[in-house]
Amino acid sequence: MSRSIAATRAITRDLTPALKADPEQRGDTRVWRWAASRTWYEHPAQTDAYNSLRNYPQYNAGMFDAEKQCFELNKQRIIELLPAEFIIVDLGCGDAGKSIRLMKVAAASDKRSMLCPVDISDVMLKEAMQNARRARVRVTGPIKADFEIELDKIVAEVSEKIPALYTIYATICNFDIDALLSKFQRTLKKKDMILFSTQLYGDDVAYIERQYEEEPVKRMATEVMRSLGFEKTDINFGVRFNSARMEIEVYFIVNRVPDAIAKKYGVWSGDEIVVLYSCKPRLLELEEIAERHLEDGEIFTNKAETFATIIGKLRK
Ligand SMILES: C[S@@+](CC[C@H](N)C(=O)[O-])C[C@H]1O[C@@H](n2cnc3c(N)ncnc32)[C@H](O)[C@@H]1O
Repeated sequence: MSRSIAATRAITRDLTPALKADPEQRGDTRVWRWAASRTWYEHPAQTDAYNSLRNYPQYNAGMFDAEKQCFELNKQRIIELLPAEFIIVDLGCGDAGKSIRLMKVAAASDKRSMLCPVDISDVMLKEAMQNARRARVRVTGPIKADFEIELDKIVAEVSEKIPALYTIYATICNFDIDALLSKFQRTLKKKDMILFSTQLYGDDVAYIERQYEEEPVKRMATEVMRSLGFEKTDINFGVRFNSARMEIEVYFIVNRVPDAIAKKYGVWSGDEIVVLYSCKPRLLELEEIAERHLEDGEIFTNKAETFATIIGKLRK
């Protein structure tokens, strides 16, 4: 059974104020941001779509495969940096495959670990638990919670007896990285560590864009718009790299605004709504981010330097 932290649901349902804020004016176009990571996985159809991304070559190569290569290349050093015994608190665990892989490698180096899956989605938590059982790894929890809003409660739930490694992998790119790391700095215990990943910006922007033009991404994003009250026929899907922000934006151009939405949010026909962003920092920027927030942080990349994993203790 998953433990639920009180009020998670109430908090996550009430996101509408985000769209009530003024849109950004970009040239002649008004751009709204309705880009909260949690809204991508709320509906079971979205988690299905996410899981199917592995079957789409472009997304698989840029994200899953690149991360796997990065881990394979650097796993000995990553494991060396971990304490002899630790709990992996896997924030936004999904199927928990990445943490389970790390635990197996750690076990081969005589390091004991226990998995604490954390996710907002029941479907994902169930998958994580099934995978953990199949892989015969030790589990504590799971915890159903929103790690952005309820990090303090999650930390309070985790045993203080052994150090924790908080993993967030590339999900961190769907947040303001600096803001989230600052929150981790304030909330995690001194002995805890953090591990996160990111796809890196390269010159080939079109290649990154194509990853997000895949059909399951469109399905996940369309579901967000439906939850706001739009019909599929009201909106046109788009993906672009926003070079000012160094992030991919998955957005919709609104060609018809149902009356109720026009009245409730003030959206007009011709407006754009960004429903997901994913930052793609340069390696140099990532080094600066790591320097700002981590103590003795180490950055690892795959061979092509298209993906990086960062591990370390947070500055206190
Ligand atoms: C891109 S998937 C990554 C899954 C897994 N960590 C991996 O790297 O394969 C993001 C996961 O984070 C969860 N998630 C997104 N926002 C969340 C939030 N604010 N709190 C808790 N879970 C969240 C989603 O439900 C989903 O399972």
